[in-house]
Amino acid sequence: MTAWTLTSSGLTLSPSSSSSATCSASGTAQPTLTGTNLLLRITYAALNPVDLHILRLFPHWLPFRRNPTPGFDFCGRIVAAGPAAVDSNEFAVGDIVCGALGAGDVFWGKGSLAEYLIVDSSLVAKKPKTWGGPNGQEVVTGEEAVGLFGIAGQTAVLMVQTAGVLRETEWKGKRCLVNGASGGVGSILVQILKGKEAQEVWGTTGSEEGEELVRRCGGEVINYKSHSPVTEHLTTLFGDTEDKKLDFIFDCAGSQKMFSHSPGYLKAEGKFISIVGGASQGVVPYIRNKLRPVWLGGTPREFHLLLLIPGKKTVGEVGELIKEGVIKRGVVDGVWEMEELVKAYERLGSGRAKGKVVVRVSRG
Ligand SMILES: NC(=O)c1ccc[n+]([C@@H]2O[C@H](COP(=O)([O-])OP(=O)(O)OC[C@H]3O[C@@H](n4cnc5c(N)ncnc54)[C@H](OP(=O)(O)O)[C@@H]3O)[C@@H](O)[C@H]2O)c1
Repeated sequence: MTAWTLTSSGLTLSPSSSSSATCSASGTAQPTLTGTNLLLRITYAALNPVDLHILRLFPHWLPFRRNPTPGFDFCGRIVAAGPAAVDSNEFAVGDIVCGALGAGDVFWGKGSLAEYLIVDSSLVAKKPKTWGGPNGQEVVTGEEAVGLFGIAGQTAVLMVQTAGVLRETEWKGKRCLVNGASGGVGSILVQILKGKEAQEVWGTTGSEEGEELVRRCGGEVINYKSHSPVTEHLTTLFGDTEDKKLDFIFDCAGSQKMFSHSPGYLKAEGKFISIVGGASQGVVPYIRNKLRPVWLGGTPREFHLLLLIPGKKTVGEVGELIKEGVIKRGVVDGVWEMEELVKAYERLGSGRAKGKVVVRVSRG
C-alpha cells in the first residue's frame, strides 16, 4: 500500500531541502481482523494543527514509533470487518465511514495518511449520503466529510456540549462569540450555534476571505485587524448593560487577553470555552484561568480548557447534526494529492487556512 512515513527528525516543510517524510509503496498481506476492528481503504485524510505539534515534538526514532505514519482524520470504505463489528449490524463491508484516530494511535505511528488503516468501530460514523434540512438532495462528498467527522468537527461538538445548554430551545436567547471563526473548528462551530438558533453568533477573523466564510456559515463578522485591540471593540459592542453581554465565548484562536478582559463583555454567569493551550500546552493557562482565585488577580468568569478524545459520543453527534440540517456544509480550504503532502502541511502551517486542508489518499 501507499503510505507516508517519517524518516528523519524535525519539521522539514520545504520539498527542496531534505524531506522529513517519504511516501512509499509496499506490499502487505491483508490482516485478520478481530473484535470490533474495521479495515478501511482510505480515500481522504484531513490535517490539523496538532499534526504539526506531533511532527515537532515526537521524533521518528523513538523505540515505540519506528517509521511512523502521521495523520488523525480519515474517510474511507470498509473492506473487511472483525466478527464483533459484523454482529453489531451497525457497519457492513462497503460502507463509507469517517472519524479521527485517538492520540495514542498516532503517537504509536498508526496515522491516517495511508491507503489502508485498521480502526476500532467506536471511532467511526457512517458518512451520510446527502445533507439534511433544506439541502436534502445535495451529496455530502468525502472531502467535506473528512473534516466534519475528524478532529475539527468533533471538537466543535465538544465545545457546544461543554456549554451545557441542555434544552435545545434555550439556545434561542443566547449571544455567542467564536474567536477564530474561519478555521477548521470555528467554521463548524459557527454553523452548529446558528443551526441551534442561538440569538446572535459572532465570529472573529482577520481577512476578507475569512469574513466571507464566517457569513456563509451564518455568523456576523468582527474583523480583529480593523478593530484593534479587539477586546475594546467587544466592550463597545456588548458592554453597555449586563443584558447585552455575551453568554458564551468559544476561543479557537487562544487569546489570554480576551479572557482577562472578558468581564467587560461576558455575562457574570457566562462561560469562556477554550481549546488552545498555547506554548505551555495548557498547564499555565489552566492554572492561571481556572485555579487562580479572584483575590489573587484571577478573572471572575468560568473558564474551560478542553482536550478532545475522539469517540462515539462526538463522532456520532456530527452525523446527527448533519442529518438534522444543523451543519449545512463542509468547509474545505483545498484538496492536495497524496504526493503533495508537504505543500498541504505548508498551507496548514501558515495558520491562514480557511476551513480544512484535505489530502486525497486514494480514489477509493
Ligand atoms: N484542545 C483540543 O482538543 C483541540 C482540538 C482541535 C484544535 N485545537 C486547537 O485549536 C486551534 C484551532 O484549530 P483549527 O483546526 O481551527 O485551526 P486552523 O484551521 O489552522 O485555523 C486557522 C484560522 O485561524 C484564524 N486565526 C489565526 N489567528 C487568529 C486570531 N488571532 N484571531 C482570530 N482568528 C485567527 C485564521 O483566520 P484569519 O487569517 O482570518 O485570522 C485561519 O482561518 C489550534 O490551535 C488547534 O491546535 C485544539
